[in-house]
Amino acid sequence: MSWKDVVRGEYLSLPERVQVFDTTLRDGEQTPGVSLRRDEKVAIAGSLAELGVAVIEAGYPAVSKGEFESVREVSRLGLGSKVCALARCDRRDIDQAVDAGVDWVHVFIATSEIHMTHKLKMTPEQVYQTAIESVEYARSRGVGVHFSCEDATRSERSFLLKVYKGAAEAGAHSLDIPDTVGVAIPLVMRELARSVKAATGLPVAVHCHDDMGLATANTIAGVEGGAEIVHVTINGIGERAGNASLEEVVVALKYLYGIDCGIDLKKLASVSRMVANLTGMQVQKNKAIVGDHAFSHESGIHVHGIINNPYTYEPIMPEVVGKRRKIVIGKHSGTHAVLEVLKQHGFELNFEEGKRVLSKVKDYADRGLRLTEHLLLRLVRDDPRLISTQPFEVVSLTVEVDNDEVFSEVEVLVRGESMRGSGKGKSSILASIEAISSVISKVLGPIEVVEYSIYVPPNPDRYPAEAEALVKFNGVTLVGRGLAHDPSLAIAMAIGGAVSQALTEKGGEVT
Ligand code: KIV
Ligand code: ZN
Repeated sequence: MSWKDVVRGEYLSLPERVQVFDTTLRDGEQTPGVSLRRDEKVAIAGSLAELGVAVIEAGYPAVSKGEFESVREVSRLGLGSKVCALARCDRRDIDQAVDAGVDWVHVFIATSEIHMTHKLKMTPEQVYQTAIESVEYARSRGVGVHFSCEDATRSERSFLLKVYKGAAEAGAHSLDIPDTVGVAIPLVMRELARSVKAATGLPVAVHCHDDMGLATANTIAGVEGGAEIVHVTINGIGERAGNASLEEVVVALKYLYGIDCGIDLKKLASVSRMVANLTGMQVQKNKAIVGDHAFSHESGIHVHGIINNPYTYEPIMPEVVGKRRKIVIGKHSGTHAVLEVLKQHGFELNFEEGKRVLSKVKDYADRGLRLTEHLLLRLVRDDPRLISTQPFEVVSLTVEVDNDEVFSEVEVLVRGESMRGSGKGKSSILASIEAISSVISKVLGPIEVVEYSIYVPPNPDRYPAEAEALVKFNGVTLVGRGLAHDPSLAIAMAIGGAVSQALTEKGGEVT
C-alpha cells in the first residue's frame, strides 16, 4: 500500500531520498532519568551505523568531561555514518565539539520571543548576530555546520526566516527546524519546511517533539514540504514526551510514500530492544512497528483472516522490520497454532495432545472466559498426562542481593534429571541469565542468548511478566517464551523454552 501516486502531485514537494539524522544519543539521552555510559553509547552508535543512519548525533560535549570523551570515542570508531555533536552559539561549545573529532557540529540558538526574553535575555538583533558569528566560526573550523533555530515553530515567521537566511549566507551547510515543545501541526510543519527551503536553497531537516502526539505526523509533513533530513530517535525517546521515532518515520516514508531512507529495516526490532535495555525505557506494547503487540493477533476474526492471508490485518509483514508474528490462542485457534505457542514455552506435544488442549481451550472460550497465555500454560501443566512433555523445565530460581552484586541459583529438570547452576551479575535478570546459561552449557554445550526482552506489567500481582529470548545453539536460533510473576524467572523460563526445542531437535540427547 503506497500513496506515492497520490502525493507526488503538484502540491507536495517530496524529495527522492531522505537522510536519517539520529539523535538517540543526544536528545534521546535527555529523556528524564536516562544516562548512558561511554561503552553503552559506543555500542548504540555501532548499531545505528549498521542500521544505516546517515548522521549520528553522539552528544553535547560541553555538558561534561564524560560526554566529551564519549563523543570523541564515537568519532574515532570510523563508522559508516557521519558523527555530529551539539553546540550552543558559543565559541567554547563549538571548540569542544570540533575537538571531539566530529564531522558535523549542530549549532543552535533560540529564536522565539519567550526563549529570547526569558532564557537568553537577548534582543532579536543580538540573537541574529550571535547566530551569524557562530556559524561563521564553526565553518572556519573545517566541519560541516548544521544550524537550528530552537523553538522555531513558536518564533515570529519573518525573524525566523531572517535568521535562517543569515545562517545560510554565513556558511551553514544544512538547516534544521525544531518543533521544540511539540506544538506544530502537520500543515504548519509542511509550510515551514517549504518556506525555509525556498528562502535559503539549503537542505532542510525537521526535529519534532511528541508533546501532542504529533511528532511522527509533523516529521512526515516536513518531508512533504521538501525536508530531506529527519531528526529522529530509536523508540521515540527524548525530552518529555520524546522525539519522532525513527522506526515509525522510516517505515511510513518507505511504505506509504515510497521514499527510501537507506535504513536496513530488518534491524529495527533488535536496535529498538538494545536501546530499551540500555536506557531502561521500556517500549509500550502497542507502539507502532516495534511494540510487542504490533504484530500480535488475538481476536478470532483477525486470526482467521491472518491465517488465510496475513495482509488482511497487517499492513506490512513483521519479518520486514525484524519482528515475529504472535498468534494469541483463543476460540478460533487450530491445533497447529496451539502446538506452536506451547513449543516456544518448551512443551513438545504431539498432534493428539495438541488437539486435547485445543478442545479445553474451546470449552473455556465457550463459557465466555478470556483465555490468556498464562491460563493456556496452566491447562497444560494441570494435565498429568502432559507433564512429561517439557524436556527442559525450570523448577526454581532464587535471587540474593549482596551490596551491589546479585547472585542467582537455578534448579532445572533435564528429562527428569535435576541439575543446578548459579550466576552473578549487576541485576537479578543478568544473574539469572548467567545461572540458567551455566546449566545449559553443561547439557548442550555453549549457547548464546542473542537477544531478550522482558515486559513487566504495571500491576505485576495480577499479570505475569512476559519474557522472550532468542537463543543461538549449534548454528540454530530458537525463540523461547516465559511467563512468571518474577521477571528473572520469566527470562530463565524463556531461555529454557528455547533449550527444550534444542533438546528435542537433538533427539533428546543430553551431553
Ligand atoms: O528540541 C530542540 O529544540 C532541540 C534543539 C537543540 C535542536 O533539541
Ligand atoms: Zn529536541
